Amino acid sequence: MTREALKYGAVNLSQGFPDFAAPADIKRRAMEAIDADINQYAITWGSQNFRDAIAKKTQWHLGLEIDPETEITVTCGSTEGMIASMMATVDPGEEVIVFEPFYENYAPDAILSDARPRYVPLRAPDWTFEPEELRSAFNEKTKAIIVCNPNNPTGKVFTRWEMHFIAGLCKEFDVLCFTDEIYEHILYPREGVEIGHISMAQLDGMRERTVIVNSMSKTYSVTGWRVGYCIAPPRITSGIRKVHDFLTVGAAAPLQAAGAYALSLPPEYYETLQSEYQRRRDMLLPVLEENGFQTFVPDGAYYIMTGISGFGFSDDVEFTRHLIREIGVACVPGSSFYSVPQRGSQQVRFCFCKKDETLNRAAERLSKLRKTI
Ligand SMILES: Cc1ncc(COP(=O)(O)O)c(C=O)c1O
Repeated sequence: MTREALKYGAVNLSQGFPDFAAPADIKRRAMEAIDADINQYAITWGSQNFRDAIAKKTQWHLGLEIDPETEITVTCGSTEGMIASMMATVDPGEEVIVFEPFYENYAPDAILSDARPRYVPLRAPDWTFEPEELRSAFNEKTKAIIVCNPNNPTGKVFTRWEMHFIAGLCKEFDVLCFTDEIYEHILYPREGVEIGHISMAQLDGMRERTVIVNSMSKTYSVTGWRVGYCIAPPRITSGIRKVHDFLTVGAAAPLQAAGAYALSLPPEYYETLQSEYQRRRDMLLPVLEENGFQTFVPDGAYYIMTGISGFGFSDDVEFTRHLIREIGVACVPGSSFYSVPQRGSQQVRFCFCKKDETLNRAAERLSKLRKTI
């Protein structure tokens, strides 16, 4: 969709990357690291100062004591973290439970690990799962479940009850949990609803069976740096480190040095990040609603999933093509997030990690949508 957007000069609200500058001090640390000749391989599982910073931040943010020597692997983005974790732990013929709609990589990750993804629906408008449906997906072949929280593409933040229910099943069936927490700081509090980040590893009996997959990409607006990390108990980390070594050897050394700085930023950094994204979300939501989209208001992450049945298009791909070519705005067809395209055929996802001027330009163009249908 990014390529299509470039081809047709569309405002790109498809792929989730900021079009604004990364924080100047974080960029400066990377430049200083290169200048100081931190330009050779870091130790394969991550440079010590970055791992120390990850452990310290995790203690501060999640209240978890992590041993940087045995429980952290620095990877090339959370993308590598997720596949390395699966390859390290999942055996051929086993099953991995994936909530659907899902971030596009999870099913291929399972397949590349010779496992079978087993889908459990999250149903709109709240994107909740049926407890009994989830339970029935667990069986003797289940090796792991993936929980993306806050969730891409839906913006769902799993409730404490849901998290405990999933944890209970993991313990009952002796299953691992891979938690993708890259949007942990991007949350939108609501009156009367507890919306705070809960990591599966914080729940009773889950620390020993959870792999936290995280990254600098979204929290520090550096998606192109490709620096992520996995936090897991020593036995699992030892496997992840081996796979990681053979996959990529290591993440960029000077960017890990800048990462050590970024992860030591004070709480105010995260408060500003949160409030800025809340402001952007509240800019785009009414634009979509006024122009005929059914919106599913996100509680976290930086996407808005929408329903398009009001427009009368036969499917999401046809609609997206129309939006790019005739209106000049790009989004992601909902079918990309489903194992069966039909399930997402009346949904599309917009991202709002963009400058105000980009969102305003999109608003202006979207106001013409109804006239073209
Ligand atoms: C849920 C989720 N996980 C992982 C990624 C990829 O992150 P990274 O840049 O850390 O590889 C994305 C990117 O959009 C995402 O939305």
